[in-house]
Amino acid sequence: MKYIIYPIVFLWLSILPAQEIELLKNWKFTNYDYGGAFQKDFNDENWDSVTIPHDWAVKEDFNFTHDIQLTMVIQDGETKPKYRTGRTGALPYVGIGWYRTNYEVSASDLEQKVQLMFDGAMSNAKVYVNGNYVGERPFGYISFYFDITKHLTPDNNVIAVRLENFSSQSRWYPGAGLYRKVSVVKTNKTHVKTWGTFVSTPVITKKSATVNLDLEILGEGNCTVVNEVFTPQGVIAAKSSKEIKIDGEQKISEDFKIKKPKLWDIKTPHLYNLKTSILKEGKIIDTYTTPFGIRSIRFELDGFYLNDRKVRFKGVNMHHDFGPVGAAFHKELFVRQMKKMKEMGVNSIRFSHNPPAPEALDICDEMGILAIDEAFDEWQIGKVLNGYSKQFDLWAKKDLTDMILRDRNHPSVIMWSIGNEIMEQYQKDPNDITSYLNDIVKTLDTTRATTAGFNSANNALQSGMASTVDVAGFNYKPGIYHKIREHYPNLKFYASETGGSLSTRNSYKFPVNFDTAQTKRGTSLNTELYPDGQPGNYENTNVPWGYSPYKEFASQDYNDFVYGEFVWTGYDYLGEPSPYHTAKSRSSYFAPVDMVGMEKDKFYLYQSEWNEEAEVLHFYPHWTLPEMKGKEIPVVCYTTYEKAELFVNGKSYGIKTKQKQEVPEFLAENIEKEASGGTTLAQLKAYAIVWENVVYEPGEAVVVGYDKKGEKVGQTKRVTSGEPHSIKIESEVPTLNKGEVAVYIVSVVDKEDNICVLYNENMHIEVNGAATFLASGNGDPTNVQNLSKPERRLFNGQAVIFVKSNNEGAIGISVKSKNLNSTNTSLIVK
Ligand code: GAL
Repeated sequence: MKYIIYPIVFLWLSILPAQEIELLKNWKFTNYDYGGAFQKDFNDENWDSVTIPHDWAVKEDFNFTHDIQLTMVIQDGETKPKYRTGRTGALPYVGIGWYRTNYEVSASDLEQKVQLMFDGAMSNAKVYVNGNYVGERPFGYISFYFDITKHLTPDNNVIAVRLENFSSQSRWYPGAGLYRKVSVVKTNKTHVKTWGTFVSTPVITKKSATVNLDLEILGEGNCTVVNEVFTPQGVIAAKSSKEIKIDGEQKISEDFKIKKPKLWDIKTPHLYNLKTSILKEGKIIDTYTTPFGIRSIRFELDGFYLNDRKVRFKGVNMHHDFGPVGAAFHKELFVRQMKKMKEMGVNSIRFSHNPPAPEALDICDEMGILAIDEAFDEWQIGKVLNGYSKQFDLWAKKDLTDMILRDRNHPSVIMWSIGNEIMEQYQKDPNDITSYLNDIVKTLDTTRATTAGFNSANNALQSGMASTVDVAGFNYKPGIYHKIREHYPNLKFYASETGGSLSTRNSYKFPVNFDTAQTKRGTSLNTELYPDGQPGNYENTNVPWGYSPYKEFASQDYNDFVYGEFVWTGYDYLGEPSPYHTAKSRSSYFAPVDMVGMEKDKFYLYQSEWNEEAEVLHFYPHWTLPEMKGKEIPVVCYTTYEKAELFVNGKSYGIKTKQKQEVPEFLAENIEKEASGGTTLAQLKAYAIVWENVVYEPGEAVVVGYDKKGEKVGQTKRVTSGEPHSIKIESEVPTLNKGEVAVYIVSVVDKEDNICVLYNENMHIEVNGAATFLASGNGDPTNVQNLSKPERRLFNGQAVIFVKSNNEGAIGISVKSKNLNSTNTSLIVK
């Protein structure tokens, strides 16, 4: 038999056997809890017709009465519970959802093994086939499968799924429904167990690599097991064949030598495939492909090593939603997010705080992004009333095990996180759950490090929790890294969450006060500073436990043994609109990229520090500030250049440089002092070029960048925008495939093509041709227009539209806003 291997195709087959049938179309859905909905002959004619992935809540109206939570955020120094709105996005994710679909099988299929696979179902799934209860899975983020063979009959079968979300179930928007892929996996009765391969690469030299395969086969009888390793080009690099007798279950371990291995690395994410075939009487009865990478990872006291090279985490945390599209997983939207993150210089992602969709890790493998796979946000002690703590005792072992079995072949995954800011820290983990979970991981994988994100550094250190995991993560503690090293010299650690400054795209507040314009611990609900829900945007407003990005840079530059950082977060997300839990906002403010994927100023800060290939010269504020005419404002420039000079209408404000501090001034005297907070001018000036007192005059501001020799190397201009003149609709991609989601950026511009940054009018959207309208958004967390209706207010001149292609041909998109209108037909669906 001749094998032709297409690596890309293999990726999408992922680690599943070949006969995977996606069940994405022809589902019926209702939010009503019909008693008999599990039964085969139940009449679901009047239910909605939906396709998977589906998020039942994101299409609904925002309402701040949804899921109001009474909570005390200990991290914030609160001593009494407070009511919070919008924490889960002010969307109706709470409630019951039923899904039903038909699935045809032939008589010969019944000779096979048929498994029903859910990549994740939000949440408390109960699954029925032909009226029979098949099983359940409470955790909304975990992949799970059931063997449904015995419930099937030839012809039509009915799959019914009941989901239920409780109020106060989450600290962010969890989504609702069958929001990830559902599939049926058909195999021979003798087959490679689902998630039954584990490929590791224990020895790697330039000349060769040892690839180890642990394989589990289920079934009966004598068979031949053939394993073939294919190079990234699809050429066979190694092969083995073994005769075995299976009696229920059989485990095999094999070593392969691969000559001149092509390493998986951040810039060269080479992927190999290991194809397992089971043969009976010379006939292939099952195949299973495991993509993997050849790479070494080491966790040393002075840093993390990938392929023997020290790599610092330039990381971001990512929640799982796609903003206006909600939690429904679309791989092209995840690719979009990752492209933007890579442009910013990101090399690693912490999937906070739960396992991602499996394709997200495939994409990290393909794009060369390191990943922390995180299991839990709660153990036995809850943070919210109906969170994971309710499931922990019964399910944690299985959930953690399945996360690792599913994900342990991904070269991108370097650490397993057993928890984020778990409340057990405060009681010094009396039941030693840290060891319990850590040990579970170690029985399944010793090639990667275990980790957890600790926010109560002192407690985690004193109780030994931090040293029970291989590598500790600390959230928001840049002031004490040096002290941790001093007192715990053998502890390896990184910053699992950093930042916490708040901003929205293109909104500036004056006067700018760098030293005091911050919330204080215990006052996170005090939103008086900027009551309109638009914080200062000079990175000078932060949540009480947070601080400016500069502070983290300064601490990590000084403490270069820290493995790096994961910014909270890469993208803004639905829910957690801290500090505006006051019926004001429904999404977060933390990220360098807003919820619709557009850069805020701090994107360029990270880019200037992290992206070694980019030449960055970005400054702010924008130059349309009528209320500031004749008044002084600070101008901040993020750049990779040595020096920069600001000109306002031709007048120079001087050539300036950054002013790095040898020893950051905020380092704490002792380890107990965990407090963070604030941005000082000195911290800012270490990572930005600042002109403090610039008299704002309409016209143009130009920043010129110079190299060390003083040669001009770059220039950026910002111009006071004129009257709105036209609307631009730009597609982010030139073509797309049928079924994919595409994104358009809409900008209102003046005659000279400058974005009218003060334009905040509504627009109406129409989509026709090869696509339908899916959602839109504008990056403003206070915007409560329905995300799925074709009306959107532009926010500071711009908005974003998501369309879903359903045919081949051109997509037509038109928008109208006041007396402006525009059409774009350039995007072609292949
Ligand atoms: C952390 C927490 C995150 C998020 C963040 C906001 O304490 O782990 O999930 O809530 O704060 O700053």
